Amino acid sequence: MCGIVGYIGTKKASPILINGLLKLEYRGYDSAGISTIEKYGVSNLKNKGRVANLYDLEGINDLEGTVGIAHTRWATHGKPSKENSHPHLDNSNTFAVVHNGIIENYSDLRKFLSDNGYIFLSQTDTEVIPNLIHYYFSKDTNNDNKKFLRAVNSACKDLKGSFAIEVISKLYPDVMIVARKDSPLVIGTTETENYISSDIPAILSFTKNFYLLNDNEFVEVYKDKVVFYDNDLSIINKPIKNIDWDASAAEKDGYEDFMLKEIYEQPNTVRETIGSRIKKGEKCAFDDLELSKEYLSSINKIYIVACGTAMHAGLASKKTFEELTNIPVEVDIASEFRYRNPLINSKTLVIFISQSGETADTIAALKLSRSKGAKTIAVSNVIGSSITREADYTIYTHAGPEIAVASTKAYTSQVVLLDILAIHFAEILGSYDTKLLENLKNDILELPTKIDKVLENIDIVKDLANKVYTEKDMYFLGRGIDYTVALEASLKLKEISYIHSDAYAAGELKHGPIALIENGVTVIGILTDKNLVEKSISNIQEVITRGAKTFIISNQDVNNKNFDYVLNIPDTNAFISPILSIIPLQLFAYYISKNKGLDVDKPRNLAKSVTVE
Ligand code: AGP
Repeated sequence: MCGIVGYIGTKKASPILINGLLKLEYRGYDSAGISTIEKYGVSNLKNKGRVANLYDLEGINDLEGTVGIAHTRWATHGKPSKENSHPHLDNSNTFAVVHNGIIENYSDLRKFLSDNGYIFLSQTDTEVIPNLIHYYFSKDTNNDNKKFLRAVNSACKDLKGSFAIEVISKLYPDVMIVARKDSPLVIGTTETENYISSDIPAILSFTKNFYLLNDNEFVEVYKDKVVFYDNDLSIINKPIKNIDWDASAAEKDGYEDFMLKEIYEQPNTVRETIGSRIKKGEKCAFDDLELSKEYLSSINKIYIVACGTAMHAGLASKKTFEELTNIPVEVDIASEFRYRNPLINSKTLVIFISQSGETADTIAALKLSRSKGAKTIAVSNVIGSSITREADYTIYTHAGPEIAVASTKAYTSQVVLLDILAIHFAEILGSYDTKLLENLKNDILELPTKIDKVLENIDIVKDLANKVYTEKDMYFLGRGIDYTVALEASLKLKEISYIHSDAYAAGELKHGPIALIENGVTVIGILTDKNLVEKSISNIQEVITRGAKTFIISNQDVNNKNFDYVLNIPDTNAFISPILSIIPLQLFAYYISKNKGLDVDKPRNLAKSVTVE
């Protein structure tokens, strides 16, 4: 869960690298460092703290090299410190390496290298890599121009775990070697310069032409060419992929924070996700899916597997899939699913959701499902990400780059995409009333306008956030689909405000959690499902009686019920209500975090992309 950047070209590398790291800081931000090839050899400037601190490091302005690598860290092995920061060098200062991932067998490798006379200066797993490269390099008696590449390849073959690495050497000032396994890495290419990065947005302002690396591929990156090799060092052809994201989508565009910008982008991002998948009077279209009526009729279970917010998007769409297709749906947490020997076979369809497409547990769960014969569909926001390369089919949310650690626009796009997918299945199967499906599609098409309305009416949210931001605990309640929104709202609040919160199914309150309710505690109720609103109102009356202060998000007439605050949102079809009801709660979390003076985009201990299990 770190970010890496590399540059090889005609310009001074250091400003480009630091600028790239700043855009990757959401991946980790407890230390940062940079190495360039200088006349005297490999520079190595690093320290704990934020990327911006690199500007204060002595010597940073003296770097002249046009080849360099850089890293922003989220500590796994070894606390944040200068010694543990990347880049790491081998003992002879010949090779510098930045690494994202985890080397699981690093203790064995460390012992092996120590036995061979190598000394370690850090507690990291990464430091074995430059020393292993040096070990293989010094053993190789063939001095041809592939010696550097061979040494990196041999070292990587010894590594167990995950890695995306960039390696430079003072002996080879015109080339950088990069490789990956189970950690993301892309190369942005132009005729005279090449940029390497953990993700596309960080280098999107330089080029729209990208090479997407697969696992166990090795690359020689020169300033004017890129050569790809497989694990056995045979040359492979790699097509360039044109990424048509707007570079400004990766900038703040005048908003104070990425999270706020991403919340306000939702009318547009939901519109993009719907795209041409729904057209009035026509059946839903998914260009990249080929699922026949015969196949869909044969499956007896759909699993939806994901982590965090993406898993909550799965929960929000379970009802739609089940009611529209009559196929039972189970939603599971990827880290649980992968280790619980789930019942999967060729009659199971498994849908994986991942904004980044790089979440380690989700990828592992996907590989497991395929090995057991299930068909798999990936729902992702990032073109060419790992999950999309593993799944049988991929459908993209097209929400544009999401930078803030707290996921907002990806969630609403995931929910709307899954709902459209459920309609698509129902249309293939003929399992639901066509008139009702038509109504649902029309309601989906109206969502962008309704999200605009929600965003115009948030004064109550700001006002309440201002009043409650010093509180220690809050509770979110809902029934049915509103409960799934309560779970997501609670996650949003805790991750960026550090306030303890929990979400409960409103009917479950009496079975224990109500003991937590005391005078003045804030309870947030989500009441959108007409069939369940009265029931939920009764549950909320129970907390009012015990002194709770209540904030209600509803599309029903729930005024005059003794609630302290009510925010009315536009009414819509119950299947898609989460797409509207979550938005004020994203903003609630956002404004509480702002009131507390916290870093909204980069909350403590969290990284955007969880590429380790
Ligand atoms: C959401 O706000 C979180 N930061 C987190 O739960 C996230 O949704 C989760 O880690 C899954 O990420 P993914 O969608 O990239 O797989």
